[in-house]
Amino acid sequence: MAEILQKVVEELRQGEAYAPFAGDPNEFNKYFYIESYGCQMNFSDSEIVASILNEEGFGATSNFEEADLILLNTCSIREKAEQTVRNRLQVFRKLKNNKPGVLIGVLGCMAERLKTKFLEEEKLVDMVVGPDAYRSLPGLVTEAGTGQKSINVLLSRDETYADISPVRLDSNGITAFVTIMRGCNNMCAFCVVPFTRGRERSRDVASIINESKDLFDRGFREVTLLGQNVDSYYYTDEAGNNIDFGNLLEKVAGISPLLRVRFSTSHPKDITDDVLMTMAKYDNICKYIHLPVQSGNTRILNLMNRTYTREWYLNKVKRIREIMPDCGLSTDVISGFCTETEEDHLDTLSVMELSRFDMAYMFSYSERPGTLAAKRYTDDIPEDVKKRRLIEIINLQNSLSRESYKNDIGKTFKVLIEGDSKKKDTEWCGRNSQNKVVVFAKDNSDLKKGDYANVKITSATSATLMGHII
Ligand code: SAH
Ligand code: SF4
Ligand code: F3S
Repeated sequence: MAEILQKVVEELRQGEAYAPFAGDPNEFNKYFYIESYGCQMNFSDSEIVASILNEEGFGATSNFEEADLILLNTCSIREKAEQTVRNRLQVFRKLKNNKPGVLIGVLGCMAERLKTKFLEEEKLVDMVVGPDAYRSLPGLVTEAGTGQKSINVLLSRDETYADISPVRLDSNGITAFVTIMRGCNNMCAFCVVPFTRGRERSRDVASIINESKDLFDRGFREVTLLGQNVDSYYYTDEAGNNIDFGNLLEKVAGISPLLRVRFSTSHPKDITDDVLMTMAKYDNICKYIHLPVQSGNTRILNLMNRTYTREWYLNKVKRIREIMPDCGLSTDVISGFCTETEEDHLDTLSVMELSRFDMAYMFSYSERPGTLAAKRYTDDIPEDVKKRRLIEIINLQNSLSRESYKNDIGKTFKVLIEGDSKKKDTEWCGRNSQNKVVVFAKDNSDLKKGDYANVKITSATSATLMGHII
């Protein structure tokens, strides 16, 4: 055990990937291992969990064989996401057979969706903890340690973990995520999130600013403000000031011109001109919007309960480009939603072409139990049709991406250096304001991680820009 501990301590001291510890790593005699699935919010929550467990004397380890506590922070968004977690649990089953003392906990959206059913279905799981119940983890771990199964899946109307300072896991030390709100009040018919994450609530503005300032003071140079629907951020502070998302963006951008600000996700119905104007006004608010379209057909959008039309979406894109001609744009698309015809699908392809997305996350529809769509409609598009439409969507996006990246050849961008490129340590890797990855030779310059470089683009693939410092 001493040997193992030594190894963990060494890894901890090497920093970066295993940086998560509060104080001296030697003070830990218990270790937790955490794997995160799903969206950025889940990864962010794992950092809150790490902070809560550090306080309890648990250090983080990246080797599950060394852990006393194994946690899976899970996602329910599509059936495949849940299957991945179940497969992963099979691996831990073997471990538990050899080391019965190890505790296994399931956190996040699957925990919330399945509740006690998880304990019945997956006998090796000791703890089930929903996204609003992480403060109760220490008690649940103690309870599970006595051999009882422990569970807390209560959703909250006001929990935002505002006062908890997240322990940055797997951090590059330059870019970080800051959660500004939790839950979602939209009821998109396909989506399980309102059920797994509960009602929407906004985090105290002061705690967001403090966390961002603290990151900046520690050398971070970019924060991404996170929420399922950031444009509906709304907080009334102690002095009675009402802060909306535009105000919040402005406040975070005001911390330092050297701190970049990004955000995700925007809902097409909620992103306002005011927010677009604020983006345009500040050089350090990145010119990039992730604006999920889901479908390009108004009838399908209506069935999805997205509350906008094809025309509304296209007008938003037009407005974004009017206010910020250089703005990067990405989207989410779902193929084969209930009743989708071939014509409806072609509408999705045409909306993609008209919007000229730089990047997209593309999925085929996966019915989720309990959602509006599962209750009201039949999942009637055959799997092979969904897949074929998805392939058409992916092929189109590949060519749109290639075109978008190719159009950047000859342009010069300000790039925030995030670290060495994956392939060569003689090259830097970073991103431009539009969120495109840029790789360029170090060229013996004095630049370091966290600096900004002006890079002229000389070549491109459909996912990376290459260039040189000017
Ligand atoms: N809050 C964000 C997205 C959250 S989920 C938003 O409002 O846009 C991320 C993406 O997963 C969604 O945009 C959608 O494209 C996809 N998704 C959600 N539920 C899905 C389902 N049941 N089947 C397939 N894709 C789904
Ligand atoms: Fe799901 Fe819609 Fe909320 Fe996004 S806005 S999390 S898709 S319900
Ligand atoms: Fe998945 Fe939950 Fe996020 S369902 S996408 S982890 S909010």
